[in-house]
Amino acid sequence: MLGQMISHDHYARMLARGRKETSRMLGFDAGTMRELYNRKPFQIEHHMANHPAFSLESLFTLCRRRPPQDILFRMGNIPGDEPLETSYDHYKKDLTLSDVLDHFEESQAYICINNPERDPEYQPIIEGLIGEIAAQTHGMDPWITWYSTYVFISTRHAVTPYHMDREMNFLLQLRGTKQVFLWDQDDDDIMSSEQKDLLLSRVGNRPRYLPSFEAKAMAYTLEPGVGVHHPFIAPHRVHTAGELSVSLALTFRTRQSDMWTDAYRFNARLRQFGLHPSPIGRNAWLDRAKCGFARAGQRVNRLLHGAEAEPT
Ligand SMILES: [Fe+2]
Repeated sequence: MLGQMISHDHYARMLARGRKETSRMLGFDAGTMRELYNRKPFQIEHHMANHPAFSLESLFTLCRRRPPQDILFRMGNIPGDEPLETSYDHYKKDLTLSDVLDHFEESQAYICINNPERDPEYQPIIEGLIGEIAAQTHGMDPWITWYSTYVFISTRHAVTPYHMDREMNFLLQLRGTKQVFLWDQDDDDIMSSEQKDLLLSRVGNRPRYLPSFEAKAMAYTLEPGVGVHHPFIAPHRVHTAGELSVSLALTFRTRQSDMWTDAYRFNARLRQFGLHPSPIGRNAWLDRAKCGFARAGQRVNRLLHGAEAEPT
């Protein structure tokens, strides 16, 4: 499983550290956070671009010492509507990790380092950043329950195809330029209520891109020192410019997003019975009730089958 669940104590430690940090790496505007967090994308500033742990040399050293399964790689320039799930297999060609690391620019490759926080050298740096996020979000979206981070290293003109994730994200640009296109997760033309129910239930493939979406894209140009917030399940597609790019994605879930996830899953279950449940996000009381039913169902399932129910 990517990422890690966070205990209360672990969260409390990261939050306390984030609150008392005097030399913060992330620059949030409190008004923008209050107005837009988890509703719309917005840019933030950061001071991670010159951090020595994120130089190309340090990151390639990290790639060489992490388990091979934590380092994904493929050709960089791929179609923007390629399904994310199959993109690494379809575009790996005959690349090997050692070739990619030894001849990165010539190979025109793209590397994703999964969970650098599992490395003892990177863990305190990453957890410091998650703590800074927690210090900002705690008042309006308390308790981060899970987090997972990724470093993306791309040669020129690399593409991360259109997709959506089941969490929130602050994507920080560390080197080079990147264009991030985001779409409104609440726009029914982009994702229907049924598609979201199935997405959060992990049934079938993620909703696909249609050319008609392009006119609704919100474009953000990220340069070193700039980041962009992705609200929960907001669809996105990313293009690097004509030079090498490095970015860090800080993704996380909270009690609130876990509640939404279980409410979506309850909706999906109702759909299996031919019902047409109301969309999640319109009525907070109803969403909490649906989440409660979904979790009660999971508990019954565990009692009946004596096994762990599906993870949330
Ligand atoms: Fe993503």
